[in-house]
Amino acid sequence: MTLAGIKTEVGLDDDMERTAAAGHRMLDDTIEFLSSVRDRRVWTAPPEDVKRKLTNPSPPIDGAGIEAAYDDFKQLVRPYTLGNIHPRFWGWVIGASSPAGMLADMLAGGMNVNVWGAEESAAYVEAQVLQWFKSVFAYPADASGLLVSSGSMANLVALTVARDAAGGAALIDEGLHAAPHLVAYCSTETHNSNDKAASILGIGRRNLRKIAADRDYRIDTDALRTAIAEDRTAGRTPFCIIANCGTVNTGQIDDLRALRRIADEERLWLHVDGAFGALLALSPSLRPLVAGIEQADSIAFDLHKWMNMPYDVACVLIRDAAAHGRSFSPPANYLTQLDGGVASGPHHWGHLGPDLSRGARGLKVWLLLKTFGFSRFAQIVEQNVAQAHHLGSLIEASAELELLTPVVTNCVCFRYRPSPADEDALNALNRRLLVRIQESGVAVPSSTVLRGAFAIRLAIVNQRSRMHDFDEFIRDVLQIARAMTAGAKE
Ligand SMILES: Cc1ncc(COP(=O)(O)O)c(C=O)c1O
Repeated sequence: MTLAGIKTEVGLDDDMERTAAAGHRMLDDTIEFLSSVRDRRVWTAPPEDVKRKLTNPSPPIDGAGIEAAYDDFKQLVRPYTLGNIHPRFWGWVIGASSPAGMLADMLAGGMNVNVWGAEESAAYVEAQVLQWFKSVFAYPADASGLLVSSGSMANLVALTVARDAAGGAALIDEGLHAAPHLVAYCSTETHNSNDKAASILGIGRRNLRKIAADRDYRIDTDALRTAIAEDRTAGRTPFCIIANCGTVNTGQIDDLRALRRIADEERLWLHVDGAFGALLALSPSLRPLVAGIEQADSIAFDLHKWMNMPYDVACVLIRDAAAHGRSFSPPANYLTQLDGGVASGPHHWGHLGPDLSRGARGLKVWLLLKTFGFSRFAQIVEQNVAQAHHLGSLIEASAELELLTPVVTNCVCFRYRPSPADEDALNALNRRLLVRIQESGVAVPSSTVLRGAFAIRLAIVNQRSRMHDFDEFIRDVLQIARAMTAGAKE
């Protein structure tokens, strides 16, 4: 191949003035879009003509320029988003972010650094952010940690280190066949990212034992002890307990201190999946709910959920820094650290997780913590918990609604139950009701199933929600439900 035919060299830095003009317009439009979010429907499905355009398989060979691309974005993408920036979005567990978060992302985009371990400020920023979170959880200052893409990834990283600490060098070098039959434990309420981790790590989903939860949806510690004893008798090797700190269904918290005692007695790793619940530790008044978290061997938590930071960013903390390093640092001569120059930094982030190349996730976290301070995030956590309790009391006060489990933190599960009906009929009615609520555009809760009952479920982590949103939500739910059941009778 000859390169002689290249007449004009190109790059991607098109006319800077034109790009800047488009950028200013994008910024103004986006601020306006965010300022008016409350006035719009929460969710609108993409219409057919939009989906048709978005499924057109012909690739754009010649570019149309930034203005035309932006027009397509405004027409095809932005109006049909999930809705999680809206104050009445409470589905799954999804944060709303903020205008400051958007700007922080923009600054990180402008630098476009790869935070793998070079001597650069962004590497120190990540270390500083991790130190701040260690102090939030009263974790030792010499513990390790990493910013990752998600709570799922944080669980995966922690469970990798737990597995490797149990299996030692033989497992790391030879694979699982050199290790004993490893078994981990969690409750039936544990998030399925841990099941994914069990299969990715070769432990096998069946060897992540699902221990029964008690009537409050906390792990039954007697049943846990029994399961561990049975596995030992059968010649298997228990290695880890995964504690829930905020179950995805009901926001419940396992007895972390009791689990620490069991882990100590049985010489097991204690991992806390605190995707959102761990952030209760930010609030002095709510912190007692997560007592014992500081004794975990590892903690996973998201910053894109209850801290409302822009997607995607989560964090894993690992008490044993040496064990963390052993899991993710196979030798590589092309990554040699030198005594000076670019490759001389002290923070080797690429050696602490699956990703070598990593964006500057820490930067938005650092900027937002400097902008608002931890105290503002603590206030939002407290406010969301108060809103959940307010909603719970509205539901209890209604003869047509049933609260399916007491509100503990920020999750509320309920159903419409206008009159005695069998469970199947109630489940079918509430499934239809949830879809109607979402399609009406007034709010987005999601669903779960609690002991066979289909539940309309809210996980309130939204910094934009206000108390009156919940009054309006109940008014709208009852209106929609009554119209549905009246229609069915006619
Ligand atoms: C308890 C729990 N763990 C883990 C996760 C997974 O987190 P992510 O969605 O950030 O991967 C979630 C998500 O809702 C969760 O609620």
